[in-house]
Amino acid sequence: MMIHCDHWFQHLWAFSLCLLWMAVMKSEASPLNCQSSCVCASDIISCSKKELTLVPSGLPSYTSMLDLSHNNIVRLRAEWTPVPLKKLHTFLLSHNSITFVSADAFSLTPNLRHLDLSSNKLHSLEENAFSALENLEVLLLYKNAITHIDRSAFDEMHLLQKLYLSQNHLTRFPMELVKDGEKLPELALLDVSYNEIKNLPVSQLRTLPAWISNGLYLHGNPLTCDCELYGLLWNWHVRKLSSTVDFRDELKCRLISQNKVNTISVFSLNGSDGLNCSVVREAGLEAYLGETVTLNCDTKLRGMTQVWVTPGNELVLTDPGESPSNRSVSVLSNGSLQIRPIRVEDRGTYTCYAHGKFLNETLYVTLSVFNFTQHVHQETLNTAYTTLVGCVASVILVLIYLYLTPCRCWCQPGNKGQGEDRESIHSSVLSATPNHETTSDKAALSRHVAFLEPPGDLRGQNGKLKPNGSQDAPGIKGSHFQPSSPHRKLSDPGSISSVFSDTPIVV
Ligand SMILES: *[C@@H]1O[C@H](CO)[C@@H](O)[C@H](O)[C@H]1NC(C)=O
Ligand SMILES: *[C@@H]1O[C@H](CO)[C@@H](O)[C@H](O)[C@H]1NC(C)=O
Ligand SMILES: *[C@@H]1O[C@H](CO)[C@@H](O)[C@H](O)[C@H]1NC(C)=O
Ligand SMILES: *[C@@H]1O[C@H](CO)[C@@H](O)[C@H](O)[C@H]1NC(C)=O
Ligand SMILES: *[C@@H]1O[C@H](CO)[C@@H](O)[C@H](O)[C@H]1NC(C)=O
Ligand SMILES: *[C@@H]1O[C@H](CO)[C@@H](O)[C@H](O)[C@H]1NC(C)=O
Repeated sequence: MMIHCDHWFQHLWAFSLCLLWMAVMKSEASPLNCQSSCVCASDIISCSKKELTLVPSGLPSYTSMLDLSHNNIVRLRAEWTPVPLKKLHTFLLSHNSITFVSADAFSLTPNLRHLDLSSNKLHSLEENAFSALENLEVLLLYKNAITHIDRSAFDEMHLLQKLYLSQNHLTRFPMELVKDGEKLPELALLDVSYNEIKNLPVSQLRTLPAWISNGLYLHGNPLTCDCELYGLLWNWHVRKLSSTVDFRDELKCRLISQNKVNTISVFSLNGSDGLNCSVVREAGLEAYLGETVTLNCDTKLRGMTQVWVTPGNELVLTDPGESPSNRSVSVLSNGSLQIRPIRVEDRGTYTCYAHGKFLNETLYVTLSVFNFTQHVHQETLNTAYTTLVGCVASVILVLIYLYLTPCRCWCQPGNKGQGEDRESIHSSVLSATPNHETTSDKAALSRHVAFLEPPGDLRGQNGKLKPNGSQDAPGIKGSHFQPSSPHRKLSDPGSISSVFSDTPIVV
């Protein structure tokens, strides 16, 4: 036996095969040796720092925790345990030299909840690498050499809550792991810090609920500086999300200026030596008369109890009981507030008080309601369109008239002026018609809205975070558009520019 091994010693693979064969022979012969190679405390088995190159054999089926950290294990094959370990919930394999984990390695340990593969030498996570682990809650993969994650590597891991991928060589942010919450519905912590990610899908990250962003660790990556990134992280910081507050100083980005690369703090990008970024504050929610509106309470943690208070300082009861009309204001089972149908009086700042075991939060959602339904609004557009057609027709008529008149040169300037006047009478209405092909429909709509009835103080301030929200809300009720109102100044850049873009046509 030994002679056989010596003969092939120069071939490493053969050597390990040989060892494996020896281990298999041993496992059939004897149960686990709890005196020399491992320490056993009933269901806990610790074989840490024993210079093992293979998983010890003869593990008892009642093992609930297995510690194989600080050894020299290179591979985790499918047959590492010949017997099912149904009670195994914690498996520690950190500080080994693992380069390979078989896709079937965990088929006999279906109840694992905690798996530590940190500080190893994994290069990539293959298809369905961890799919058998349907009960896994925590997966530690930090300090490996992972460059590639197959999109299906974490499929079926419905209970995974924490995934640590820090200190690897990832160049792409694995957006599919957090998007829509379908793949990993329970994931509340994804650590991709200290990788090689240069660009983030900022617009997609913006849409994530706060309870995911709160545990999305991005620091220590060579991010490229831009104002989108600044806006995202600034927003997260204002929300006091752990991922940005706890690692504020490590959130850096690379700014290329005069052929030099400067690594600066993302939060200094608003300074003039950075990119001079400014923050675009989120507009509040907007709704049309009669719609069903759902206000989300975007809490930092999940499983909080939400209590909603309306702008009129009324508490919204979870069970509104029988209401005489079809109108209902109620808290849905997921904590969102639903109002249907919405009335103009419903606008203002809503407050969500969220209570949890570890955290209490107060959030504000600003809602503006247009004093017309979306349907009626479309009719207005149609009216405007017919007016346009009418106007074009009359201009053509005027031109025909001009060409048919004998004294063309004498009459033309005067008539031309009249034609312009006539056009300008309609232009204030027409400015919102869909014939502006460059602007999107939505832009055209909000432009029209801004002109008829600017939501003024309701918009422009950070919709989700209005600190002193409710006081000014009652004043809005029933009020009409006041052009000289001081609130006008607060309206968002969109509505200001809409006024500018409309006026030159009128004057
Ligand atoms: C940049 O924002 C920080 C707050 O995040 C503020 O303290 C600082 O004054 C701002 N700098 C400039 C130049 O606006
Ligand atoms: C930075 O932006 C502000 C406002 O947007 C402007 O007043 C200031 O001049 C800018 N500074 C530089 C150095 O560009
Ligand atoms: C709560 O449920 C409603 C309707 O089912 C949905 O529109 C809303 O987005 C949900 N809110 C959250 C925070 O998931
Ligand atoms: C309630 O809704 C039904 C249709 O869904 C309608 O026929 C009825 O008039 C409504 N009642 C009130 C009081 O609005
Ligand atoms: C949250 O507020 C309640 C009272 O409303 C208090 O009893 C509880 O201790 C608070 N929890 C935390 C984590 O601050
Ligand atoms: C909504 O508009 C109508 C006229 O179109 C007006 O009579 C009514 O007072 C307005 N309601 C509010 C709350 O502004």
